[in-house]
Amino acid sequence: MAHDELRGNGRFPADFVWGAATAAYQIEGAASEGGRGESIWDHFSHTPGKTVNGDTGDVACDHYHRWPEDVALLRELGFKAYRFSIAWPRILPDGRGRLNPRGLVFYDRLVDALLDAGITPWVTLYHWDLPRALEELGGWRNRATADAFTEYADEVTRRLGDRVKNWITLNEPWCSSFLSHWIGEHAPGHHDLKEALDANHVLLLAHGQAVPVIRRNSPRARVGITLNLAQVYPASESPADRAAAVRYAGYFNRWFMDPLYGRGYPEDMLALYGPDLAPRAEANDFKTIAAPTDFLGLNYYSPTFIADDPKSGPFRARDVGLAGAERTEMGWVVYPRGLYDLLVDVSRAYPTGPLYITENGAAYPDPEPVNGRVADPSRLAYYQGHLAEAQRAVQNGVPLKGYFAWSLLDNFEWAFGYSRRFGLTYVDFATQQRTVKDSGRWLSKVVRGNRVEG
Ligand code: FCB
Repeated sequence: MAHDELRGNGRFPADFVWGAATAAYQIEGAASEGGRGESIWDHFSHTPGKTVNGDTGDVACDHYHRWPEDVALLRELGFKAYRFSIAWPRILPDGRGRLNPRGLVFYDRLVDALLDAGITPWVTLYHWDLPRALEELGGWRNRATADAFTEYADEVTRRLGDRVKNWITLNEPWCSSFLSHWIGEHAPGHHDLKEALDANHVLLLAHGQAVPVIRRNSPRARVGITLNLAQVYPASESPADRAAAVRYAGYFNRWFMDPLYGRGYPEDMLALYGPDLAPRAEANDFKTIAAPTDFLGLNYYSPTFIADDPKSGPFRARDVGLAGAERTEMGWVVYPRGLYDLLVDVSRAYPTGPLYITENGAAYPDPEPVNGRVADPSRLAYYQGHLAEAQRAVQNGVPLKGYFAWSLLDNFEWAFGYSRRFGLTYVDFATQQRTVKDSGRWLSKVVRGNRVEG
């Protein structure tokens, strides 16, 4: 469709992909059923003090048992695509070696049920639940974990690759590396920048190694990676803040995008880290990491406003937020324009090919359901604002081909446990009753009509 035809009528291109997203550990529960092994998140969430209220994913949304109901929900809402992740420890309970057939059967049935319901599966191979046995061998700091991931990707895609045609290798490697190994907020909860940089290198390597394996097993598949790039604005026009913004973007964005698109690690960041911190790379690593992909997935929630701060990390840069801006319950600034700017900036700077928003959404405190209804006007407004910006990006020629809302269900929000609700559907965790929120009903109309009301 020509861009002019889209202008002003709120319509998206006819082939625009509308989906909802989830992740295995956040919804499945059944942590010790079906032959599943332990993951780093089981261990972390069971360690006192690591999650709000000591919450764990032991039961979560009980999706492992209730998945037929959840597929029906997706269908009722009109979604044509569903992004979910596979729990590595369900497939290979010890990380590598022994295969658990029951794990494969679970996803096999889910995929068939989705296809029967006319819903296209988008499968993420790694959404943070590393088998604990691999962590004990050094986890993502250990190069051998890239080989283990490749074996796991091989098993999964050999089984599902005939029917699943959209694969995402990793979800947000920044979280698996920096947030988990340096900031310590996610499993395994370490506080060491050197470890984070090493882990990140192994994650990128795992991605690059897996891409050709997935292609081999899944003919005509489309393979990509999902990143949580920061949309970086300098906090002021001062030269110091502008320079800080460049450093922060180096840390959060270029450190991932440059190697993925064949440019190796950015020189300015290598200089900033120095030889002691820089990850150990072997001769062919950058060629492997730059394996051609078919799309880039972007998760966007909030932008950053970066000020120069000599005391903040090696980047001497700090996110100071936006004075007076609305914030979600996560404390994240609501700034829909950031989504537009991110899409434009990324598509100009790198040859990404098609872009997909693989997550976008908001946590707000929700009232309990009353007569089968949950009024969540703030979340609805969040979606409205961001979809308008996504639409503007499409109109202006950005190759944005789809949008996945985070999340289908309220779920286990990592270190925040069940204290933050991101769902289009309210989950009563005592009864497991699901109730579609007003935002879910609204988004359902958008999806069915393929347009955002002006
Ligand atoms: C993203 C994660 C997703 C969810 C949202 C709120 O970073 O990928 O699992 O927790 O944040």
